[in-house]
Amino acid sequence: MNIILLGPPGAGKGTQARRLMDKRGMVQLSTGDMLREARSSGSAMGKRVAEVMDRGELVTDEIVIGLIEEKLAAGAPGGFIFDGFPRTLGQADALDGLIERMGQKLSAVIEMQVDDDVLVERVSGRFTCGNCGAVYHERTHPTAVAGICDACGSSDLRKRPDDNAESMRQRLMEYYKKTSSLIGYYHAKGLHHSIDGLADVDTVEQSIAHVLDRA
Ligand code: AP5
Repeated sequence: MNIILLGPPGAGKGTQARRLMDKRGMVQLSTGDMLREARSSGSAMGKRVAEVMDRGELVTDEIVIGLIEEKLAAGAPGGFIFDGFPRTLGQADALDGLIERMGQKLSAVIEMQVDDDVLVERVSGRFTCGNCGAVYHERTHPTAVAGICDACGSSDLRKRPDDNAESMRQRLMEYYKKTSSLIGYYHAKGLHHSIDGLADVDTVEQSIAHVLDRA
C-alpha cells in the first residue's frame, strides 16, 4: 500500500509517518529529510537548496522528483509513505508516472487539517533528534530527560533553521498557493480523505488507521 500524507507545515505528517513505519513496516519518503541531508553534505546543490529552504520557499520540481525517483528504485515491500511530496501538480503528475512504471498504485491521500495558529505554535516548539529523527515539542511532547532523546539516547537535539515565524509565514503561503490544489486533484481520482489533525497524536493515528483499513 502506497499513501500520501498531505498537509501544511507542522500538521503532524512526520510524526504519523514514523508511527506507520513502526506499526505497518512501511517506508517513509520525506523530501524535507532528503533535502536536509543534501544541505548537510555541503555540495553545491545542497548550498542552493539550503537558501531556498531557509526562505520557506519550494525547491524546484526537478530536484525533488530526482530525489524521490532514486529512493523508489530501492522498493518497499510494506509500501511507501510520501511525506511532504508531492507539493505541486507537476510533482503529482511525475509521481503518477513513477508509480505506474513500478506496476503499483496509490491507495490513499490523507489530508491532515490543522488551523494556522496551531501550526505556528507546533512548529515554533518543535525539536528533533539529529541521530534518529524522533520529533518532539518543547511544551506538548518534551523528552523524558532534558537534552536526551527518548528513542536512541542521543544528546544531538536540534531545532530547524526554517522553524521561525518569518519562514513559517512563507511556508504556509507556499502551501496554500501551490500545494492545496492537490486536494482537488486527488479528490477527482477518488483517493482523497481528510482527517482532523487538531486531535491528539494517538487519535490522529487512529483516524489514519481507519482510512487505511478501508483503502
Ligand atoms: P518539510 O521538512 O517537508 O516540512 P513541512 O512540510 O513544512 O512539514 P514539517 O516537517 O514542518 O511538519 P510535519 O507535518 O511533518 O509536522 P511534525 O510531525 O514534525 O519541508 C521543509 C522544506 O523543504 C520546505 O519548506 C521546502 O523548502 C522543502 N521541500 C520539502 N519537500 C519539498 C517538495 N516536495 N517540493 C519542494 N520543496 C520541498 O509535527 C510538528 C510539531 O507538532 C512537532 O513538534 C510534533 O511533536 C507536534 N505534533 C505533531 N502532531 C501533533 C498533534 N496531533 N498534536 C499536538 N502536537 C503535534
